[in-house]
Amino acid sequence: MELDSGKSTENLFTDHKTQSTRRILYGILIILSLGVIALAIGLAVVVQSKNSETSHVSSDANQAGGAISIPDCIKHNGSKTPELDRANCVLQSYPLIDGHNDLSWQYKDAADNKVYSIDLNSDLTKVWNVTHTDIPRLRKGKLGAQFWACYVDCTSQYKDAVRKSLNQLDTIKKFVHRYPDVFQFVTTAQGILDAFKAGKIGSLVGLEGGHSIDSSLANLRMFYDLGVRYMTVTHSCNTPWADNWLVDAPDYNGTVLNGTTDFGKKIILEMNRLGMLLDLSHVAKKTMIDILSITKAPVIYSHSSAFKICPHFRNVQDDVLQMTKENGGVVMVNFYDKYVNCGNNKTNITTLSQVADHIDYIKTLIGVEYVGIGADYDGVPTLPVGLEDVSKYPDLFAELIKRGWTDEELRMLAGKNLIRVFTKAEQVRDSLRYMAPFEDLISTKEELNKQCRTE
Ligand SMILES: *[C@@H]1O[C@H](CO)[C@@H](O)[C@H](O)[C@H]1NC(C)=O
Ligand SMILES: *[C@@H]1O[C@H](CO)[C@@H](O)[C@H](O)[C@H]1NC(C)=O
Ligand SMILES: *[C@@H]1O[C@H](CO)[C@@H](O)[C@H](O)[C@H]1NC(C)=O
Ligand SMILES: *[C@@H]1O[C@H](CO)[C@@H](O)[C@H](O)[C@H]1NC(C)=O
Ligand SMILES: *[C@@H]1O[C@H](CO)[C@@H](O)[C@H](O)[C@H]1NC(C)=O
Ligand SMILES: *[C@@H]1O[C@H](CO)[C@@H](O)[C@H](O)[C@H]1NC(C)=O
Repeated sequence: MELDSGKSTENLFTDHKTQSTRRILYGILIILSLGVIALAIGLAVVVQSKNSETSHVSSDANQAGGAISIPDCIKHNGSKTPELDRANCVLQSYPLIDGHNDLSWQYKDAADNKVYSIDLNSDLTKVWNVTHTDIPRLRKGKLGAQFWACYVDCTSQYKDAVRKSLNQLDTIKKFVHRYPDVFQFVTTAQGILDAFKAGKIGSLVGLEGGHSIDSSLANLRMFYDLGVRYMTVTHSCNTPWADNWLVDAPDYNGTVLNGTTDFGKKIILEMNRLGMLLDLSHVAKKTMIDILSITKAPVIYSHSSAFKICPHFRNVQDDVLQMTKENGGVVMVNFYDKYVNCGNNKTNITTLSQVADHIDYIKTLIGVEYVGIGADYDGVPTLPVGLEDVSKYPDLFAELIKRGWTDEELRMLAGKNLIRVFTKAEQVRDSLRYMAPFEDLISTKEELNKQCRTE
């Protein structure tokens, strides 16, 4: 965990600045006393202080933790919507990185993955019946980067899951490449920041469900090579090596593995070795605990909220939140109304304010360093009032401003926390470079369902 790496960079910068200021002051003194010689020294100092500013920007970017530019977003100007103005200002200063969007599935569902049959620049609510995402609304929502979900449903497990997953990955790459002025395919923490600086939405891929690799470490590696940067360890079905959240329900009557198997643990370690983020949304509580106990890198929950606020097993329970803090991971809060509002106010309409409650709860319980956004747009049928589509992120940030959040806290929620986790996972990958790939095969005992195998 290097939670204070951003801070120490700031201190370094302060030292740089103090030094530069001193140098300039000396320069002025010398100018006063020594005339012509001093002029030359003064010039040298100016050049030097310019250089140190430039090197701050790039070293900050290398750290991948620092803000890109930090305007004072707090200043109001008499506008009727000061919180929204400030939210928009904050989201212009640091990328909002959403952990989960299922646009790729919409392309499959509504258009057989024919990306060139639908213009994302048009208002898709008028083209497709249920859609939360298109380019005009993405721009209005100030989205900085997106993990696009590469999802295939659980019925394809043991059958054509790999083929279908490749189709969805192809769909993501097609729409990213179709709009090069809007999207930029990226695979690193630095890539997200670079795309943002270029005014593009950094586009990453998350593989939503361990069934997509068909119990093969080789497939896992090939998905990494194709650009996949997180894998959700399960979707809503067990794999032969990990339990999903459904096993947590008291009336669950299917098979239970009790977390992850030995082969599952090899998959976790191989993901650490590759630098692929572990996504614990959708997994069983015991799977979360198993993984948090063995992973060498921080984890993410790409789209999960707080169980204490809404006791749904897709959400994260308090003791696991505490483990996640220890691990240095990030919980990216889901907007799905069923995961946001399942308490006493069930009859009431779910609202944006209740999503803010989840975010506030995690911040209060474990700290602002461990919370992010994973809206699940286009992956859910219904959403809270006020967060209907991707244009609404600034409204959520405006609500948090009303609740007293600082600009820096908002930037952490938006993207700094995810960048920290991703950077750390890359460092873990680098530190494991000496290791050979895992070549374990799943045992016949673990893999009972073999009807689609030729050997
Ligand atoms: C106040 O802020 C709004 C939103 O950023 C901007 O559109 C407007 O031009 C600003 N007005 C002044 C006087 O700066
Ligand atoms: C969209 O939904 C409306 C209302 O449910 C329905 O009447 C209409 O036929 C749907 N259109 C398409 C293209 O599916
Ligand atoms: C197991 O659960 C499923 C789904 O809830 C249900 O349809 C089925 O009847 C249950 N089976 C038994 C034996 O209880
Ligand atoms: C589940 O696994 C843990 C060890 O990870 C073990 O202590 C526990 O007894 C197991 N529970 C069951 C029901 O097998
Ligand atoms: C239910 O609504 C009331 C009144 O709006 C609010 O005070 C309370 O916190 C809500 N409870 C939950 C669990 O959302
Ligand atoms: C549900 O919402 C209505 C209208 O906003 C409010 O009057 C009522 O108190 C709410 N019910 C609960 C249980 O919070």
